[in-house]
Amino acid sequence: MEFPVQTANPIKVETACLVVPVFKDGDLLPAAAKLDDASERLIGQLIERGDFDAKLGNVQMVPFAPGLNADRLLLVGLGHREKCQEGAFCKAVDAAFTALSALPVDDTAVAFTDVPVPDRDCDWKARMVAEAAHRAVYRFTEFKSEPEPAPQLERVTLLVSEGSHAEAAREGARIGDAVGQGINLTRTLGNLPGNICTPRYLAERAERLAADSDGALSTEILDEEALEALGAHSLLSVGRGSAEPSRLIVMQYQGAEEPDEAPHVLVGKGITFDTGGISLKPGEAMDEMKFDMCGAASVFGTVTAVLAIRPKINLVAIVAAAENMPDGRATKPGDIIKTLKGLSVEVLNTDAEGRLVLCDALTYAERFAPASVVDIATLTGAAIIALGHHATGLLANDDDLALDLLDAGESAWDRAWHLPLWDEYQEQLDSNFADLANIGGRPAGTITAACFLSRFAEAFPWAHLDIAGTAWQSGKQKGATGRPVGLLTQYLVDREADSQVEAGDD
Ligand code: BES
Ligand code: MN
Ligand code: ZN
Repeated sequence: MEFPVQTANPIKVETACLVVPVFKDGDLLPAAAKLDDASERLIGQLIERGDFDAKLGNVQMVPFAPGLNADRLLLVGLGHREKCQEGAFCKAVDAAFTALSALPVDDTAVAFTDVPVPDRDCDWKARMVAEAAHRAVYRFTEFKSEPEPAPQLERVTLLVSEGSHAEAAREGARIGDAVGQGINLTRTLGNLPGNICTPRYLAERAERLAADSDGALSTEILDEEALEALGAHSLLSVGRGSAEPSRLIVMQYQGAEEPDEAPHVLVGKGITFDTGGISLKPGEAMDEMKFDMCGAASVFGTVTAVLAIRPKINLVAIVAAAENMPDGRATKPGDIIKTLKGLSVEVLNTDAEGRLVLCDALTYAERFAPASVVDIATLTGAAIIALGHHATGLLANDDDLALDLLDAGESAWDRAWHLPLWDEYQEQLDSNFADLANIGGRPAGTITAACFLSRFAEAFPWAHLDIAGTAWQSGKQKGATGRPVGLLTQYLVDREADSQVEAGDD
């Protein structure tokens, strides 16, 4: 998809569909006002006659409009002016692109950057628009014999009323375009069924990403033999019951001016299917456990966005991939395993498997002497109970890192919420037989899961994102969301500025 920026008068723009946002009350925005003047008060009349209610998210297609060079006009309701904040803006943008994706148009021009949103500039609005365009045209039809026709949208022109905003809009669209592509890859990997998307499949995708990167990305895959030799017995214990072999996938991107600059590390939980193992899950909605690799998928999506943006940072992306199955050889409750770090773990519940693959991946991350490590995981059902489906859970051993991630989430409008990682919770992991247990009982399940991980993250600033509530939707809209690719990409792009400040050349 392309995102050119134009300062042209909206009535002069030649496009298959001009998109004009309208408030429910108050004056028309500049684009709508110009259009109204040129068209015998088309918008004013539509509203007065009750043919268009500019309620938030309402859309009205006008198949042809006098005085316009555009083939069609799409009006989008913004709701009340005083309530126009980030959520409302994004809802209106989403509604517009959802409508556009159902129209026979390959090109549109949108006047969203003039919509006033407190504390948000043109760059941010352009970012949200580009990202929304990608999300709206996404379809997952690989397994449909007769898929519905795919949306045709290919070019989204961003109209800016002031020339001085053009550069900001261009930069915003560049980031939003990259994030949108990353989000859609994440959704596809998440949506793929467990019989296709196996640990070996994820390893192949990493190799494909590297092959298509013009040398910007390198990949290393550790197979079970290599993991055994390394001593990653905790990761291996999870895949023991599966016919699909486990993999540790490592991708490296070197973008920093200083080649040895400490890298930022992302670690993704890649359980390609989570039955619970011997501690078998109930059958209801178990199909959704194909999404248990969405942390890994978000790492792939973020790497994709980074390859498009090319920030001047070093990045290491690690995916811990395994399938959790019950079997004669599977790990049993009570089994004691030795982690890569050397700590022994009593596996009291084989369904708490995410932390068992992540702990070895975190230990592996130590060898990169990282500037920061962020793991992303569909780790606990308790995160859904605590935060629902809107906020990603954030826990960290470093408050500065936690703040950077919270900021990135606000900025990308892909938000997280900070939960406490106090020492008091650690004793819930005490084991009678090993160094620690892999579960901490029912209270604060999201926190005790993070406590477990924290034991393996003592050597670097580390944060954990629990995306159990945000990575996918259930019900009629079932499918991966692509979160938190927006947050992660923003976090990494912001780190470029950090390292320039440190080097004193900003
Ligand atoms: N992948 C699940 C977490 C999950 C469950 C995410 C449902 C989204 C929806 C994870 O492996 C798991 O099973 N966690 C257990 C931990 C418990 C045994 C301590 C859970 O949350 O029930
Ligand atoms: Mn589980
Ligand atoms: Zn799981």
